[in-house]
Amino acid sequence: MKTIVMFANKGGSGRTIATMALASGFLAQGKPVAVMDCTDQAGTNPKGRQPSTLQNWMMQMAACKIRPPQLELIECRTRDEVEDSAAAADARGIDVLLIDTKARLDEPQLAALGLADLIIAPAISPFEAKCIVEGIDQYLGTPEDLMCLITGCRNGAGEAAETRTAFGYHSVFQSELPWAEAISDQILNGDIAHFVSSLACKPDRPGFARYRDALAAWNAVQRLTHEVEWALDGQRLEPFTGDQSPYAFKRKAVA
Ligand SMILES: Nc1ncnc2c1ncn2[C@@H]1O[C@H](COP(=O)(O)OP(=O)(O)O)[C@@H](O)[C@H]1O
Ligand SMILES: [Mg+2]
Repeated sequence: MKTIVMFANKGGSGRTIATMALASGFLAQGKPVAVMDCTDQAGTNPKGRQPSTLQNWMMQMAACKIRPPQLELIECRTRDEVEDSAAAADARGIDVLLIDTKARLDEPQLAALGLADLIIAPAISPFEAKCIVEGIDQYLGTPEDLMCLITGCRNGAGEAAETRTAFGYHSVFQSELPWAEAISDQILNGDIAHFVSSLACKPDRPGFARYRDALAAWNAVQRLTHEVEWALDGQRLEPFTGDQSPYAFKRKAVA
């Protein structure tokens, strides 16, 4: 089992969104996935008036026919729960464990980070990225298995580039998640692939632009999922700059 832990010492950085998106990406590869809620919402009564974000999402995933044992939600409030549940998930044959955390790192979150094969630090703007860089210094020192992620930059490529710069010397995934309905509304729509197929229509039909955006978002999620897999194997996708050929634009990056 591979354990991926989200890290951001600031709320609203995109941890929960990225957790759900990567779950869809790995599920599309046929892998059994467990999502661990290690936020303050863990332990919410799912039948109460306000189920947690991940509980709501699980309900929508079930509506898309994705249920245990393919996808499980584990909720942990203590260090022991985190460690025992992770070991149990491994024993049950889960391939990928995705752990969502909160901005303040207490014992359970630190325990989760201790289990990580890969830590992913998402940011939706340069501001979040700067906070995260400080948080990494404060909480994690010089982690080897940490990759930063640009997600949902609303102001286009310029802002995404600034976010990349703001991450400083930390490794950043080349794949970025665009700002997209298919990604932001996962607790309404559930599985991204399912949502995309529900929008499918021909170019001359109304709704085609929505379908095209959702499809582009799904492609980005799958690209990121592959890059995450490479990162788990110790491989990094780097920008390729040494190319003199006239076709350079076709191969900006190499594995
Ligand atoms: N790729 C994305 N596309 C659209 N919206 C996004 C994306 N990534 C993050 N967001 C938005 O950013 C906000 C914060 O994301 P969230 O995952 O809840 O942050 P965190 O869990 O770190 O507090 C959400 O409202 C979400 O809709
Ligand atoms: Mg969250």
